Amino acid sequence: MMPHFLDLASARAPGLRAILDEAHRRKAARAGWSKGQVDADAPMAGHVLAMIFEKPSTRTRFSFDMAARQLGGSSIVTSAGDMQLGRGEPVADTARVLSRMVDVIMLRSNVHQTLEALAAAASVPVVNGLTDISHPCQVLADIMTYEERSGRPVAGSCWSYLGDGNNMANSLIEAASVLGFDLRLGVPHGYDPDAAVMATACARGGAIDIVRSATAAVEGADVVVTDTWISMGQADSKEKLAAMMPFQVTEALMAKAGPEALFLHCLPAHRGEEVTADVIDGPRSLIWDEAENRLHVQKAILLWCLDRL
Ligand code: CP
Ligand code: NVA
Repeated sequence: MMPHFLDLASARAPGLRAILDEAHRRKAARAGWSKGQVDADAPMAGHVLAMIFEKPSTRTRFSFDMAARQLGGSSIVTSAGDMQLGRGEPVADTARVLSRMVDVIMLRSNVHQTLEALAAAASVPVVNGLTDISHPCQVLADIMTYEERSGRPVAGSCWSYLGDGNNMANSLIEAASVLGFDLRLGVPHGYDPDAAVMATACARGGAIDIVRSATAAVEGADVVVTDTWISMGQADSKEKLAAMMPFQVTEALMAKAGPEALFLHCLPAHRGEEVTADVIDGPRSLIWDEAENRLHVQKAILLWCLDRL
């Protein structure tokens, strides 16, 4: 089976654990190095990563590009609109052509099915760089950040997610079910995470609950996570913002979480909407470590895809 990295539900716990351990190890091994310096073993030497973006990106674009460089490989970055893909060339044909030229393909797509179609036709590994349904690379970086700061493995910890039941919520649900941590989602009616994602995770035995109160969602949590209320490609609506407002992460809400509760946000953030400035820019917030850890996790994901872990 081709080692695609499409979502966390299809991953196995030992594989995810190996990716996380590799990310921690490689980060520690290059502490103090300049950012362009190649890791001593250069395990991606001679390999090329292609990245295709159907929507904007800052962190995913730079972290994957730097990941390939630090591993001794190289990358090609393009937007779908600059490719024939943007003029209607089938994604399966694109997959077959790129598979003859590069070693790994990362796609950020509007619709999850595009990613699945790319993976189905590719003869090289395909990585999910965010779709409307999931954002698995980001959630692994979140977990790495929690483990790094707490000094504890994620298994057995208690996470709370507040706001829109979007791609981040879905990937957190999948991660909780595979890696064995508790997850409480505080989500308003009408904005639940994907029903199929939730059903699969619960069938797997995941300790995952959806609650309608922000206070109930954060009680005793080790980590509080939120994300934008309006994701890329979603319509902005006053009605949605009003429904989300009771789930805004404030200092008062953080005080109801565990005494050492940490705050995470994948970014970009909207201060005054999903989170107040005093929380996201305050002492419990790990957002800059979280953003940096995208790089370390992407390196480990690329090595997993290339069978080099
Ligand atoms: N968090 C994240 O994926 O950021 P970008 O959209 O900037 O890649
Ligand atoms: N849920 C957000 C995540 C951005 C990284 C979006 O899809 O826009």
